[in-house]
Amino acid sequence: MLRMTMLPAASLCILMVLSLCSRAEATTAFDLLRETAVSYRGSLPCGGWDCECAFGRQKSCCCIAQPLFELEEATFTRMVGLWEGLSHLNSQIEELTAGCKIAFTAAMLPMSGCLGPFNSNMSISYRSVSLNQGNGYNPALGTFTAPHAGLYSFSFTAYSSVGSAGQRLYQKVQLMKNDQLVASSWEDNREDSEDSSTQTVLLQLRRGCQVYVELLSGRQLCGDTQGQNMFSGYLVYPFSEQ
Ligand SMILES: *[C@@H]1O[C@H](CO)[C@@H](O)[C@H](O)[C@H]1NC(C)=O
Repeated sequence: MLRMTMLPAASLCILMVLSLCSRAEATTAFDLLRETAVSYRGSLPCGGWDCECAFGRQKSCCCIAQPLFELEEATFTRMVGLWEGLSHLNSQIEELTAGCKIAFTAAMLPMSGCLGPFNSNMSISYRSVSLNQGNGYNPALGTFTAPHAGLYSFSFTAYSSVGSAGQRLYQKVQLMKNDQLVASSWEDNREDSEDSSTQTVLLQLRRGCQVYVELLSGRQLCGDTQGQNMFSGYLVYPFSEQ
């Protein structure tokens, strides 16, 4: 045990590596190393290292100590560099993806009568919310406000049923982005008593942009007893905020 404490660090390292393989093999390999070192008669370039070797005349430890030390230094420096790079990358990813789980789905509450007609374009409040990740959708107003800049996908379905043929199916619904018309869907006939249509659009939004669906003045949505009128959207991918 006393001798063990005198082993220079480098020798200990070798010993540990060797003993990792197999104890029996390690003994053999180490014995061989030792024998070779002990029987070596020439001089060895030891640099500035003063090796107090465990086996008195084992010179090989002097030779290997300096390269091992350099290797350890280089490995350590590299690891520090890698670590710094990794944490930098981590914070960049966090910055880019923070609060980026944004998705909502909402439907109109079932009704037997009609929504409308109104004197002005009226935003529809889809009050039955089944999903609102990121809380971008406000069911009271029917408005989605982008919590993060990015590319978004929106869909809406307009459904109306006037009961019997001969009645006028007269609907027009439009998707708006900050007071600007983006897409619409309409119907005006007496042949169909029931109809539905769906629109999907991709929009680039800045943070705070508002998207909502309007029922046009004079038009109406009727007989939606199952919440077929829907509005949904989600963030496809974010843009970094400038
Ligand atoms: C309602 O929407 C229609 C169609 O987009 C538009 O022509 C009209 O100006 C709008 N009315 C109001 C009061 O904004």
